[in-house]
Amino acid sequence: MNSKQQKKSPLVVIVSISCVLLIAILGSVYYKYEAAQSSESQNNAKDGQQQEVPNNNGVDNSSSKTNDVEAPKEPIEKKPIESTPQTEPPTTEPKTVNGYPEEQQSPTEPTYVQGVMIVNKKNPLPATYNKGEDPVAKAAFDKMAAAAKEEGLELVAFSGFRSYEYQTTLYDRYVAKDGKDAADRYSARPGYSEHQTGLAFDIGEKGREDLWLTSAFGESKAGQWLVNNAHKYGFILRYPQGKEEITGFMYESWHFRYLEGDLATKVYNSGVTLEEYLGLE
Ligand code: DAL
Ligand code: ZN
Repeated sequence: MNSKQQKKSPLVVIVSISCVLLIAILGSVYYKYEAAQSSESQNNAKDGQQQEVPNNNGVDNSSSKTNDVEAPKEPIEKKPIESTPQTEPPTTEPKTVNGYPEEQQSPTEPTYVQGVMIVNKKNPLPATYNKGEDPVAKAAFDKMAAAAKEEGLELVAFSGFRSYEYQTTLYDRYVAKDGKDAADRYSARPGYSEHQTGLAFDIGEKGREDLWLTSAFGESKAGQWLVNNAHKYGFILRYPQGKEEITGFMYESWHFRYLEGDLATKVYNSGVTLEEYLGLE
């Protein structure tokens, strides 16, 4: 018995050593595989974070709503629009940053296209343009609000005319809160806001202040009424969904622009933005 054990011992030792080595090799391979998997999932998590944005778009909900014009209340996806890369070959088009041509001069007069005053990222107003609320546009809003009231909807224009100086205050506030790229998607820089024309109104429903400055307003009864009827009173939804590359601004269910005569109905029937209708994009 003893001699048998002594003969087997080297074999047992060799088998044991082999087993230990095999386990060590397998362990090392498994460890490397785990490390590779963990690094990949960390990278994926980082990519996801780049899409994350503040919950309320940085708007201070403790201040009055009229002071919050007109940052949307909902999260905004971070994506600067229309930034021409510096490496592109020179073209006849000026380089743009978030839709604004670089080194754009302040004009001395507003721009009119086919008789329509046009204010967007490529067509600013003079800083001195300060005519206040347009009385014809205001009368049209009042008529529209009266018609909506007949159907039990109380429309409120919570922001109308804004001076160049007030727009500066608003824009600077949003840049401080959300950064320039995000602010440029929902707030016009001073001189580039339609509110300075006195022809634009941010509209909501009285009693549904929770929906002001939200996309959900566009789905509400009042928002839908506006979508279907505003044109009859001379108003167009100026920044429709999915048209940011053309209008320069995110969807704003609340921003309506007055157009003279039956132009609003023509634009509405065309199903395109004001820029497209006027051949500007
Ligand atoms: N929110 C619109 C674009 C404005 O600031 O005029
Ligand atoms: Zn507006």
